[in-house]
Order: sequence, then C-alpha cells, then structure tokens
Amino acid sequence: MLPADKSAALRARKTTGPPIAALTAYDYPTARLLDEAGVDLLLVGDSLGMVVLGFPDTTHVTMEHMLHHTAATARGNRGALLVADLPIDSYRNPAEALANARALVDAGAEAVKLEGGVRQAGKVRAIVADGIPVLGHLGMLPQRVKEEGGYKKKGRSDAEIKELIAGTRVLQAEGCFGIVLESVLPKVARRLTAAIEIPTIGIGCGEGSCDGEIAVVTDILGSYPWFVPPFAVPRADVAGEISRAAKEYVAACQRSPESLPTEP
Ligand code: KIV
Repeated sequence: MLPADKSAALRARKTTGPPIAALTAYDYPTARLLDEAGVDLLLVGDSLGMVVLGFPDTTHVTMEHMLHHTAATARGNRGALLVADLPIDSYRNPAEALANARALVDAGAEAVKLEGGVRQAGKVRAIVADGIPVLGHLGMLPQRVKEEGGYKKKGRSDAEIKELIAGTRVLQAEGCFGIVLESVLPKVARRLTAAIEIPTIGIGCGEGSCDGEIAVVTDILGSYPWFVPPFAVPRADVAGEISRAAKEYVAACQRSPESLPTEP
C-alpha cells in the first residue's frame, strides 16, 4: 500500500475503528517483530536518544541519528505505517522542515512527526503539500523539556486547554492525518478527541481517552529498566532475561576446566 493510502486508512479508523495500536521501533528486528504482530503504526521516535543512545533526553538527537535508525527500521517493516520523528532543530522554518522530511522519506520513512501546534502551521503545510503525510504531536513536548523544566501533565489550566484546542484545529486544518497527545489530562484528551475529525493517539493520557494508543517499545518490553514512566504497562521483562542469560553465559565461560565433563 502507498504511504498516502496507509495514512488515509489510519485516519479513517477514527470512525470505523478499531482503535489504533502504535509502538516505537528503532531497529530491524524489533520493527519486523512488531509489524508481524499487527502493529498499525511504527514510530522511529526521537525517544531513541534516551532508550537506545543513552542521552538524558531527546534534545541530543540529530538528523544523522534519525536517518540511521529510520533506514534500519524500514528494512524490517512491511505493513505498518512507518513514521519518523523530525528531531529538535531540524524544522526551524518550512524549507528546513521540508528538506529534512524528504531526507527521512529517502531513508525509508512513510510519514513524519513534529512537535507543536499553531507555530508549526507553515511547516506542516509545506510537508503535506509535498505529498508526505504528517503526524502532529501536542501536550507534553519532550523536545521542550529544558524550557518546561521537566515532564509535566498538560491541560491543567484554561490557558493550556485553549492552546491545545488551537493546536489540534491548526494541525487538522493543515492536513495532519492524526495527532499524538502526550501526557494530557484524560478529560481534556477526551474533549480534544471529540472535537476533531482526525484520530488522536495517546500516551500517558489515560486508557480510552484517544482514538488509539502509542507506547515506547522498551516500556512494554521491560528492556530499559532505569526509567519507566508511571503510566507505562510493562508486558515482559526483557532486561531481566538479558541479565539472566548473560550471567549464565559468564558462569559457563568461567567454569574451571576441572569441572567440565571428561571426554570419553
Ligand atoms: O519519540 C517518541 O517516542 C515519541 C512518543 C513518546 C510518542 O514521540
């Protein structure tokens, strides 16, 4: 299916259902396993800066990082819509946004995501006009974590709610096929979801508040134990399994020759 058809099919899920199931992926084997499991949308998120590259937040991620991981992820994907994040400082004006969106598509992305609402209107317009589907991102914006002084819930004040409503309207009007809502209070996320015609995909907004859910894959796999957001639902303990297998291997390597069975 063409990327435009895949994004249109996801957009239609707002009315047809079922809710959208989205996960991040950063490499070939994970993308292949998630795609084969039926995930609708794979996001090469700039969260890779933290959970793959070991940076403290996403503000260290560059286009070079994104291109490398997008290409690897694309090689493992067939059916899901592959979205790649435009990293911080890669979309400071419409021309830069378009050039970098094209570079991500050349690396294998089928759509791009950028953070922010009203101030991103011209950039979304430029990318959409070029035929590249765009996913919006509102609420807590990790690329602004330093300005915001931490990861805070959004939708607490009237001013924040107004800004979110304006953002959803602008992103819809400029042609986004959907919007990620991150860490928005559940009742506000429900209100935003009801007010627009494109699907919202929630993370940290409470179950059932949006038209779909996205999670950072390491949170559901339990493969990044050093920071687990409070809203994450681990469904495996991959970190525990890696530690167990590695310890077993170390013990096997370090066994003294005398303890090995004698050859017949
Ligand atoms: O980078 C990322 O993983 C994201 C998700 C949190 C939606 O943007």
